[in-house]
Amino acid sequence: MRICVIYESVTGNTRMLAEVIQKKYADMLTENPQEADVIFLGSWTDKGSFSEKMREQAEKIRGKKVFIFGTCGFGGSREYYERLFERAAALLDGSNEIIGHYYCQGKMPLSVKERYVFMLQEHPEDKRMQASLENFEEALTHPDQKDLDRLSELLDELKLA
Ligand SMILES: Cc1cc2nc3c(=O)[nH]c(=O)nc-3n(C[C@H](O)[C@H](O)[C@H](O)COP(=O)(O)O)c2cc1C
Repeated sequence: MRICVIYESVTGNTRMLAEVIQKKYADMLTENPQEADVIFLGSWTDKGSFSEKMREQAEKIRGKKVFIFGTCGFGGSREYYERLFERAAALLDGSNEIIGHYYCQGKMPLSVKERYVFMLQEHPEDKRMQASLENFEEALTHPDQKDLDRLSELLDELKLA
């Protein structure tokens, strides 16, 4: 069985997940998606979905087993992760079989925090902005070792290797 990992990571969070996958299947990897049986498709989250580049990649895949993974800034909500997964899954052609998915939180650039702080200075009572700032701090340590271990366990359950 051949495995191909296709992903985009701008600041390195999604790459951390991709590296867990690449390490797990080191002797089964191919760089050519055409000759892969299983494609691991990963993206950072851009405006609530796969990045533009990964959307294009997703739409091209035909007849493969596909595992979707990604990181996003907003954590703490399983529903949000599920929604992101469903949006990514909807990009795939019906000839593919989705075999699993994994999302976790990923740290965001400092510029995001600066924007929150600025907006809180303007509107100190803004509860949504307060929650966003708390979420920013929470995200700073992710993906952490626990996130990576959880992915690794999920891969073991797939029994591909
Ligand atoms: C332009 C931009 C848009 C983003 N949009 C979202 C979003 O809609 N939802 C979310 O949860 N995180 C969003 N994020 C946060 C990133 O998806 C998150 O930090 C991710 O872990 C980055 O992954 P990477 O390090 O692999 O690039 C956004 C980040 C940027 C820079």
